[in-house]
Amino acid sequence: MIFSDLAKELTATNNRLYGLNHSLRAEGKDVVDLVSGNLSNYGALYPSDTLQEILTRAIHEARVYKPDSFGQRVAREAIAESYASTVSSDQILLTPGTSLSYWYCFKMLAEAGEEILCPRPSYPLFDYIAKIAGVKIAYYDLLESRNWEIDLLMLEKQINPRTRAIVLISPHNPTGAVINEEQIERLGELAMRHELPMISDEVFSHFLYERNHLPRIASSKAPLVFTLNGLSKNYALPGMKVGWIAVTGRKSLVQNSLRTLEMISDTFLPVNEIAQFATADIIKRGDSFINKQVEFVRACRLKALSSLDNLSFVRPQGGFYITLPIGGDEEEVALKLLEKEHILVHPGYFYEMEGSHLVMTFIFDSERIAHVFDCIRNYI
Ligand SMILES: Cc1ncc(COP(=O)(O)O)c(C=O)c1O
Repeated sequence: MIFSDLAKELTATNNRLYGLNHSLRAEGKDVVDLVSGNLSNYGALYPSDTLQEILTRAIHEARVYKPDSFGQRVAREAIAESYASTVSSDQILLTPGTSLSYWYCFKMLAEAGEEILCPRPSYPLFDYIAKIAGVKIAYYDLLESRNWEIDLLMLEKQINPRTRAIVLISPHNPTGAVINEEQIERLGELAMRHELPMISDEVFSHFLYERNHLPRIASSKAPLVFTLNGLSKNYALPGMKVGWIAVTGRKSLVQNSLRTLEMISDTFLPVNEIAQFATADIIKRGDSFINKQVEFVRACRLKALSSLDNLSFVRPQGGFYITLPIGGDEEEVALKLLEKEHILVHPGYFYEMEGSHLVMTFIFDSERIAHVFDCIRNYI
């Protein structure tokens, strides 16, 4: 046998929705993609003259190769400052994006076959990240009937001796839920009671619609927190491939984690040096850009919500996505929407959702978004 069992599991399969999507595109049809949620496709671009200046300087600084396995200090200092210096630059590690940050954490915390507790609805890449890391995903539920709040009782019942960490995603993809202070406190206490590390994904941290401030598990009693973030969503620069892990909590646990993360990172030295040197300036010069794109995303959200006005669903409080409960068969409705209207959305089962739902981003061309969501509404 040439290939591993993992290789067999990783062979891409084509489902009906993506089969149809592929054929429509091959016929030259303009498919409205409400799946990728990529801001840079809709004109929300980091200003090109600023980026050019930043990169020119970064190229100059990166010419002499002096890698740092945690990532260049200048980048880590700017990231630490962005957390109002509640974390030191020595507690930050640069990675080539949040997906790989998850992989680092899974590998560091769990033996093969041990469990990481993740929210359900779930971010679809988890399955693959977990497979490649050789760990298992177990789920705790977010309750649609309570605005997708975490079911903390269920979460605690899921904990067993094989549980190695709890993942929190806030703002959450795809429900748009943002955890509140009371739940943060209870989750932090739960993590402390069970001595479990928290992996907190905050990639949508600037995209908040009903509050100005993101409640963070790093300020709870949790004994060890890995906060994941990066340039991909907040700065609309997914192609820079820069993410980070900020490690906080009890000193000895933080020190142990940093030693392991340093070795993982040192083995690959995977983050492009030019991108590392550019990171500090991208963050420091990015405030007005962030404000502008938050305004754009808020406007998209309001237009989408106004088209869906009298439907019953949980309004997203953060992030880029809407989850709509529907009456019919979710896969059939998604197929029909794609076939007849050329609008690509996902059925809820892609996200391990119970019941029948459609999931879509509201990031879209502001001229056409109202029309697109009017169409969607007719299928619900
Ligand atoms: C919740 C969440 N976390 C992480 C990522 C991936 O981030 P990155 O591009 O930094 O790998 C995504 C991408 O869509 C996401 O939705």
